[in-house]
Amino acid sequence: MPGMRMADSSAAAMAGHQHGAAGGDGWPRPPMMPGLTMFPALMELDPPGTDPFLPGDGIDPATLPLARPRDVVRLDDGDVIDLEAGLVRRRIRSRDHVMYGFNGQYPGPLLHVPEAATVTVNFTNSIAWPTTIHWHGLRLDNASDGVPGITQDPVEPGETFRYEVHFKDPGIYWYHPHHREDVLKDLGLYGNMLVEPRQPDYYAPADREEFLMLDDFLMAGDEAMPFGLERSTHAFMGRFGNLMLINGEPDYELDATAGEVVRLYLTNVSNTRTFNLSFEGKSARMKVVGTDVGAFEREEWVESIVLSPAERYIVHVRFDEPGELVLVNRVQGIDHLGGAFFQETDTLGVVRVAEGAADTAAQPGHASIAFDTLRTNVHAAREIALYREYLDAPVDRELTFTMETTGIPFVVDRLMRFDSAYFHPVEWSGTMPMMNWNSSSAEVSWIIREPATGSENMDIGWDFAVGDVVKIRLHNERRSFHAMQHPFHIHGQRFLVLARNGVPSENLAWKDTVLLPAGTTTDILLEITNPGRWMAHCHISEHLESGMRMVFGVGSL
Ligand code: C2O
Ligand code: CU
Repeated sequence: MPGMRMADSSAAAMAGHQHGAAGGDGWPRPPMMPGLTMFPALMELDPPGTDPFLPGDGIDPATLPLARPRDVVRLDDGDVIDLEAGLVRRRIRSRDHVMYGFNGQYPGPLLHVPEAATVTVNFTNSIAWPTTIHWHGLRLDNASDGVPGITQDPVEPGETFRYEVHFKDPGIYWYHPHHREDVLKDLGLYGNMLVEPRQPDYYAPADREEFLMLDDFLMAGDEAMPFGLERSTHAFMGRFGNLMLINGEPDYELDATAGEVVRLYLTNVSNTRTFNLSFEGKSARMKVVGTDVGAFEREEWVESIVLSPAERYIVHVRFDEPGELVLVNRVQGIDHLGGAFFQETDTLGVVRVAEGAADTAAQPGHASIAFDTLRTNVHAAREIALYREYLDAPVDRELTFTMETTGIPFVVDRLMRFDSAYFHPVEWSGTMPMMNWNSSSAEVSWIIREPATGSENMDIGWDFAVGDVVKIRLHNERRSFHAMQHPFHIHGQRFLVLARNGVPSENLAWKDTVLLPAGTTTDILLEITNPGRWMAHCHISEHLESGMRMVFGVGSL
């Protein structure tokens, strides 16, 4: 049993396991976070029981086309586009990496469409894995939802598939593979979709729009940390990265003008990281305007934005003075072994604010005047008002989120049990890199359980009818072996987050993904409008791979 080796030869072991040093097994060791308490026995853990994978084996990156930043593709109802997943060369901090891209771009092309449009996407799979594309958040036809084994067969290497993508609701969406998402999406296969609202005053006015896809990528020294070939690694906490990326770039820069209002569309595409974003430096007021599937009932001032994997937020920000600001991720890390919390701040990008036009202060623009007041988004509010009567309705269904393990190394078992003494509703960063890396979906099962029936994951057989409005109570169990937050995503429908721990939400918006912190209870109201067989799952890629998914049916009557 590898975990039984104890700490005697710790110095020698640590010396051999420096950052990025390759073991004899083809796996580099995961980098450690500086300043954290280390436990020598953990440094000797065996690699996960799967072969290491990185794309482009034996291919000289120089022979691949250099990926370019994404295009914005404006589409109308009835338009047709081609989308191809293929190998690209990405230059990150002046080193070349073989990664994946859609149409040779990073991120994939941004599809800009009017509300209610339907677009045909002819997808070609030019990578070595079978795959599919899921159009996250869209209430489209079930046959185009892109879930292998549920709505379609996987698209094999060299094959094509035709998706009819319907954009029913205004908002910001994204597309990504739904097969081994932990590998394929992380290597660059993701892109945004903006659905332009039919009503021009759906949001308050802004001077400009920017799109930020937030990600992190795990490097071992100068090289990418390999992925598990047969199954995913990092099954406990998900694959936290140590290189922060916005739109695929580690050094994001935004130019702005003092006094202008910028509408930011934020999408978290990372495997597991929940971000807490804010601007630091000069004055930058920020208000939340919308989220996954459109606008909030009311605008709200915020200090920071918490964004779990797959969630989107639409934010208006006004940079009041010229100068420089930094976009930071400020979170609380957990030194699991030392048993302490610590502040962690990562810089994600820089905003350079130029002097405004001479008359800006005297004559603030339309958007700037509107920015000073918090308005009600009447179109969204009117629609959501129809659902207020369900706030006090009884709970229709319940689910519990938990986990089980089999055959994990003894030392990991002991430490994880010890660790559960420190209660943390959100695991913000990868502070247990060795234990986490070593765990694969062979040892760790993440579970959605229906207490009423005892059914779990794919055995939960829910059936609904179009027109149902279902109140679902979601418990994220604190007393499991390693409790953790789960961003829970439901395909093909939309829902409201009614309450957390019994406290009603004051300001509602339609969503498709909700963060369930550990030890909390969340009530959602799921509106059933779209027939088919739909998946619901945790959007931590490694939890999805470790079982945390279910399917529900919606009859067409
Ligand atoms: Cu964003 Cu089932 O996925
Ligand atoms: Cu999860």
